Amino acid sequence: MYDFDTLLNRRGTDCYKWDGLAKEYGDPELMPFWVADMDFKCLPELDQALRERTVGATYGYTFPGEDYFKSITSWYERRHGAAVSADEIVNAPGVLTGIHFALAALGKPGDSIIINTPVYPPFYKFEENGRYRVLQSPLIEKNGRYFLDFVDLDEKMRSGARFYALCSPHNPSGRIWSRQELLELVALCRKHGVILLSDEIHGDLAMPGKTHHPLLSLSEEARKISIIASAPSKTFNCAGLKSSFLIIADEEMRQKVSRKIKSYHIDIDLFGLLATKVVFEKGDAWLDELMRYLEANAKRMVEFVDARLPGVKASMPDASYLLWLDCRGRDLSQEELVRRIKTKGRLALNDGTMFGPGGATAICASTTALRDYTWRKALRGWNELWEPRQPREPDASTKSRTATVESFSRNHIPGYPRLYTRRCFP
Ligand SMILES: Cc1ncc(COP(=O)(O)O)c(C=O)c1O
Repeated sequence: MYDFDTLLNRRGTDCYKWDGLAKEYGDPELMPFWVADMDFKCLPELDQALRERTVGATYGYTFPGEDYFKSITSWYERRHGAAVSADEIVNAPGVLTGIHFALAALGKPGDSIIINTPVYPPFYKFEENGRYRVLQSPLIEKNGRYFLDFVDLDEKMRSGARFYALCSPHNPSGRIWSRQELLELVALCRKHGVILLSDEIHGDLAMPGKTHHPLLSLSEEARKISIIASAPSKTFNCAGLKSSFLIIADEEMRQKVSRKIKSYHIDIDLFGLLATKVVFEKGDAWLDELMRYLEANAKRMVEFVDARLPGVKASMPDASYLLWLDCRGRDLSQEELVRRIKTKGRLALNDGTMFGPGGATAICASTTALRDYTWRKALRGWNELWEPRQPREPDASTKSRTATVESFSRNHIPGYPRLYTRRCFP
């Protein structure tokens, strides 16, 4: 019903993803898979509401009205079965900004904050910006799936950590933490007096059939020690409108954080407030369709990697539109890998080392390529990554692999076999 296929030309809008290529990669013509935003047309009702707001308008100081808060609380109720009350919401002009303010309000320089590795790169900035000591707790990887290491977390918390910044769902792996894992985490944090900051910006993007658990919905214990930082920005592709919020059930923590934000005279602008209200009120059907689309894209990409990129592993994410590609099996240095992706593949991807330890020999791609043109162009790039091997007489296993790929390609790649007849199997 919604249009996710029209190719939008975003160039010339100063968007990071396309217009930022020249500065970031020194080449404006790469296919951008780096910034985690989408190239789809946004929710039509959002477009319309923004347009209507500008007709004969003034743009004076604006506060978040009752409808704004109601849109968030009823979204949490509808989409997550979670009870959030309006007075638990504290606004911030960015998810990370909110987390930084929470840290500033509740901690002091020198406090320790646990993060998992690999993780979304700005998490490492807590050290730089807030003068906190970042304690890295490596995730355990089993067959491409990541798990929290509770033994290590217990040790780190025992050593006096004050905060734990959890990425839930996890960027870059797309892992949704199970209810059981989260409950265990809450119990651990309670035991050691650790405040749990849960970055849930990807939480509304659970794949069909998967369930994200907002931390505050888990238990009374969780409500006492946690803060959710979230926004509609990733879900509805409106990050440029800078509208986010914290949910803090504990009165004392909330007052402190709210006072800190107010003390800097920080507000969300009126378009950001309007966007949040509209997408949360009217975005259900759009989001459901989007998730089916993203799931299909991610599946195609995982199958493609499996069939066509020997030595690279990709696992289906539980949520969002990132794909974490493990290239260890390729036996290339990270430098060479990154160089090849750019010069041969003509792709702009995130070097896994940006995500910290555990990211070497990995790359992160945003899987939101549009169908048709962009998708084909991207796949052509992926195809070029590895040197074609010398053709040889196929043995039985190669023949069956070839058959799988051919049938996959015919079903999934528009234009096949015109573009993808080259065989690159070992
Ligand atoms: C886990 C995570 N947190 C936060 C952000 C950025 O949010 P904001 O721009 O609202 O700070 C991103 C963006 O990709 C993200 O992936």
